Amino acid sequence: MTNKTQSKIGILASGRGSNLQAIIDAVERGDVDAEISVILSNKENAQALERGKKHNIECAFVDPKASPDKESFDREMSRRLKEKQVDLVCLAGYMRILGAEFIETFQGRILNIHPSLLPDFPGLFPQQQALDAGVKVSGCTVHFVELAVDAGPIVLQSAVPVKDSDGVDELAQRILEQEHIIYPRAIQLFLENRLTVSGGRVLIKDD
Ligand code: GAR
Repeated sequence: MTNKTQSKIGILASGRGSNLQAIIDAVERGDVDAEISVILSNKENAQALERGKKHNIECAFVDPKASPDKESFDREMSRRLKEKQVDLVCLAGYMRILGAEFIETFQGRILNIHPSLLPDFPGLFPQQQALDAGVKVSGCTVHFVELAVDAGPIVLQSAVPVKDSDGVDELAQRILEQEHIIYPRAIQLFLENRLTVSGGRVLIKDD
């Protein structure tokens, strides 16, 4: 009998990379049963790239200015991910909108994390949006990526209270702690083939 080959993940990140770090740590602990094959960033100085290098993961800055338009940049990202034969693409603070062709290429195999309880507060500054709306509960969402910003079938969510004393930073930090828990968990559910999308909902098979 042949052994199952190790699943491969490609990660796209634009900034600090704390979610990326949570995924790296989960892989190293064995909580996520995969190899991170490549980390790509559209930002040369993304801390995410430094984090990856520290763990000897292949990392690359892909310069958007080297591509004539958005579609060709996406195509270059896609080419690099395909070259690594990734099974799953994880957006971890990737602050670019993916085009139709990219999404089509990796249909049903792209996950994103967003710091709000979607469908509330998509887009930029979701924690500020939550404070402005006066909600008492906010949180984070891992979802499959579709052709709309921060939208697609929801895999996991985690809620946190919004406290009267919260500013953006306090709320963002409380949400971030949950992001680092649910993102690796959602990835592992995907890798275990336990997620089925049905009528816009994600059904999760029991263990
Ligand atoms: C995270 O809070 C993530 O949820 C958010 O960007 C932050 C990246 O932090 N993503 C989005 O807002 C996507 N629309 P990180 O680089 O430390 O993981």
